[in-house]
Amino acid sequence: MCGIVGVLGNHEVAPILVEALKRLEYRGYDSAGIATVNHGTLDRRRAVGKLVNLSDLLVHEPLAGKAGIGHTRWATHGAPSVANAHPHQAGPVAVVHNGIIENFRELRAELAEAGIAFVTETDTETVALMAQMYMDRGADPVSAANQTLDRLHGAFALAFLFQGQDDLIIAARKGSPLAIGHGDGEMFVGSDAIALAPLTDRITYLEEGDRAVVTRTSLEIHDANGTLANRAVKTIQIDATRVDKGGHKHFMAKEIAEQPTVIGNALANYLTAEGHIALPDPGVDFNDIDRLTLVACGTAYYACLTAKYWFEQIARIPVEVDVASEFRYREPPIPDRTLALFVSQSGETADTLAALRYCEGKAARILSVVNVPESSIARESDLALPIHAGIEVGVASTKAFTCQLTVLLMLALKAASDRGTLSADALADHVSALRGLPALMSVALEQNGAMQNTARRLSEARDVLFLGRGLMYPLALEGALKLKEISYIHAEAYASGELKHGPIALIDKHVPVVVMAPRDVLFEKTVSNMQEVMARKGKVVLISDSEGLKEAGEGVWASIEMPQVHNAVAPILYALPAQLLAYHTAVAKGTDVDQPRNLAKSVTVE
Ligand code: F6R
Repeated sequence: MCGIVGVLGNHEVAPILVEALKRLEYRGYDSAGIATVNHGTLDRRRAVGKLVNLSDLLVHEPLAGKAGIGHTRWATHGAPSVANAHPHQAGPVAVVHNGIIENFRELRAELAEAGIAFVTETDTETVALMAQMYMDRGADPVSAANQTLDRLHGAFALAFLFQGQDDLIIAARKGSPLAIGHGDGEMFVGSDAIALAPLTDRITYLEEGDRAVVTRTSLEIHDANGTLANRAVKTIQIDATRVDKGGHKHFMAKEIAEQPTVIGNALANYLTAEGHIALPDPGVDFNDIDRLTLVACGTAYYACLTAKYWFEQIARIPVEVDVASEFRYREPPIPDRTLALFVSQSGETADTLAALRYCEGKAARILSVVNVPESSIARESDLALPIHAGIEVGVASTKAFTCQLTVLLMLALKAASDRGTLSADALADHVSALRGLPALMSVALEQNGAMQNTARRLSEARDVLFLGRGLMYPLALEGALKLKEISYIHAEAYASGELKHGPIALIDKHVPVVVMAPRDVLFEKTVSNMQEVMARKGKVVLISDSEGLKEAGEGVWASIEMPQVHNAVAPILYALPAQLLAYHTAVAKGTDVDQPRNLAKSVTVE
């Protein structure tokens, strides 16, 4: 979602701001803009669409100045338009904002009563107008920003720039992350360290409720209580913030291809040489836990659905799984000895964070499985388990999903080991299957050509169904989500056994049905369901191993062969063909694979 940058530099900032915004593109946006102060004069440029449009505008209408702020906007209040794009300016104040000002209607009414007019439909304009109003009443920039911030409700990150102030940015964090970068006689502000990586590796992460007064040579932070706060300066690994396609056409292709490596990393971080599962301190003892509640959104939710099978089958713990946006408002009772587990790539998803906060003081322990260790969800958990996937830039989650699954399976094995529900041999068997995954994934990736051919045919479809049983059912859901979000083809997934209970009415010769089914104990049942589809002229794409493909026999429309794999880790391996099918279908359709329409990478609003 929206991205914020700010620079108090020693050089012209317009190109630096645009470059930093490029590094935030992955979050998803539909307009962009920058504002600078040049010898005291505040001015701005904004454009709808991709950042190249802003760059083009800046060629024709350059913006000078060594102090500036910039923004990529993902529309919430008001359509993507130049008027609604940030920075918003009201007289001497320019503001960029990520998040939602929940009481903006009330503040708007108050401003309207004072005769102050609006030119946009956004909540952010209210912030600029409030600050202007306080300055008109005599407040200096710092005090005007503080008085404004005191009035705001909601979750947001904000940066202010002021007319006449070539050496001042005010930044505030309440619900959305914000980082301050330290240069040599320069200072930077960014939604994350990735945006600032080419500028500095020295980062101060603002804490919840912090307000920062930033100049080129100083940083003064006050915490939520208004007390002067001393926040650490961390040196980040620039390598960890590298954002490039590594020779691939799209970030998504690169991230799919990286999976053997990142799964290897995830395993190395949790598996000891002896094959034990070691969690970061303070760890967790599953003997103290009677029940698990898993909560997430989107792809991460499907990772949770998969984990339910693992925790229940392997560790014999009852599991409830919930979509975060529903969980919180349902106000579910949380019995004693419940472990609440939140899964999130970004660690900033507003609904998941709110669900976590709901569990605070109720659940026995709060765990999270995250890709961003500095994220809000990680920081607010009793124990955060990083998935070690590295930065995921493609909006459609791929490597983060398989790394989430890998960490969740290891957690289920740890639970089984604590509770003694798995024999030592069975445990060793699972661990060895996990260790074998990176090699099997490399073999699976060799099927790229076959997937591309099948995808070309899929790209002509209007509707596609996905079927799976057992551990393959959540994966079928993920396969359908992946396909619809990047190719815009309507796709739905069903548990194979549910087909007869309604969805079979949709089957005809135009509907491809992707069946994910390794040759396991459930395979024969799935083959029967497949026959039912084929009897109605449905086009079956079967993803299975050599044995399964042989047993399924003639009549399938397309088949994709996966290597033989241990049943428990099969969903992690079979995620690859699901991702590649979606990827190649989107490429065949010519859609924007890495930044599909309407989607944002980090969903920081409800
Ligand atoms: C789909 C996708 C989304 C995210 C969801 C949760 O490809 O990426 O469905 O999984 O928005 O995001 P995180 O994991 O950051 O909480």
